[in-house]
Amino acid sequence: MSQMEKKVYRFGILGCGMISNVHAEAIESLQDAVLAGAADYNREAAERFCKKFGGHAYENELDMLADDTIDVICVCTPSHCHADNAIRAMEHGKHVVLEKPMALTTAEADKVIEACRMHDRKLTVISQLRFSPDIQHVRQLVKKQAFGKLVFCNLTMHYWRSEEYFAGSRWRGRKAFEGGGALMNQGIHGIDLMQYILGEPKVVGARIHTLHHEIEVEDAATALIEFEGGATGMIQGSTCTWPGFERRLEIHGDKGYVILKENAIERMDVPDDEIDRREETVHAVGSYNRPDMIDCHMHARQIQNLIDAIEGRDSLLVDAGEGRKAIRIIEDIYAGESK
Ligand SMILES: NC(=O)c1ccc[n+]([C@@H]2O[C@H](COP(=O)([O-])OP(=O)(O)OC[C@H]3O[C@@H](n4cnc5c(N)ncnc54)[C@H](O)[C@@H]3O)[C@@H](O)[C@H]2O)c1
Repeated sequence: MSQMEKKVYRFGILGCGMISNVHAEAIESLQDAVLAGAADYNREAAERFCKKFGGHAYENELDMLADDTIDVICVCTPSHCHADNAIRAMEHGKHVVLEKPMALTTAEADKVIEACRMHDRKLTVISQLRFSPDIQHVRQLVKKQAFGKLVFCNLTMHYWRSEEYFAGSRWRGRKAFEGGGALMNQGIHGIDLMQYILGEPKVVGARIHTLHHEIEVEDAATALIEFEGGATGMIQGSTCTWPGFERRLEIHGDKGYVILKENAIERMDVPDDEIDRREETVHAVGSYNRPDMIDCHMHARQIQNLIDAIEGRDSLLVDAGEGRKAIRIIEDIYAGESK
């Protein structure tokens, strides 16, 4: 390869279900990435996937990991497989794009963090909405104390998931496979955004219920939280609030406020308003109730960030240590308070 030639990274996708489509589209959209193929424990799923997106349908996970031409594995399996799949990929010398949640517990997440260090591999945990320009903008404003002293921060994720969403899946709604429900699966994005913008809160108290669905995990959760500096707030997540609403993150200070709907600023007022200087936002089109409608642009940005980090052009925005933070908060909410 000449000095001028850019390396094109070869990606293998593990787990060919709903979210794998978003990964394939994201890879397709990038200049320095190409899809090498896919594997699934259901071989037919891998074949169908490769017919649609191209690449080789491998016999199984180990067959794909043995392919030395693959640089990066996207782990798109159900949540309980994530930590093991990621560690195995790194043992085979691969870098990793790991779907959320990176693990079902902080103890498992720690093993992934250790494997990154031991095998000297880059791993990014998907939290695609961190790459939204409005999220980045609000984070900068909080850093500059543009809202003054923070008083309240409330995160509401009042979602709706149908009976079929759970009944049609072998893993959703089951404690051993999903690790938790409205918070660990659907709510982890919002919790990560909140802690990314405001820092990690302490959990003061919580109530966890399964009110509507016949599932083993929660479909309604409320937690009282407290940030360094004394701001308090609430996290609410559910999958049984008809008909389902966009995620809202409200930040109130003694000089200004912002209300984020999904990943975009809905309303904001700060004394030194810099709103006009932000990039145009890419809106998450209706995905709060329809996970099959997730747009690939944010995943593409995150995958590009991983490539740039491997190349030494940038640092990883969501490494394994960052991915662990939301799991710690959720674990504390399930426990009822910070340990
Ligand atoms: N980032 C996001 O916005 C987002 C959205 C939806 C789902 N997800 C995450 O992506 C993951 C997958 O979700 P999904 O909705 O695509 O699930 P899915 O059930 O549609 O697909 C999972 C696929 O993995 C395969 N599989 C299961 N166990 C396997 C194993 N051990 N080895 C290889 N293949 C295996 C299944 O056959 C299936 O094809 C979940 O952890 C979920 O939390 C993330």
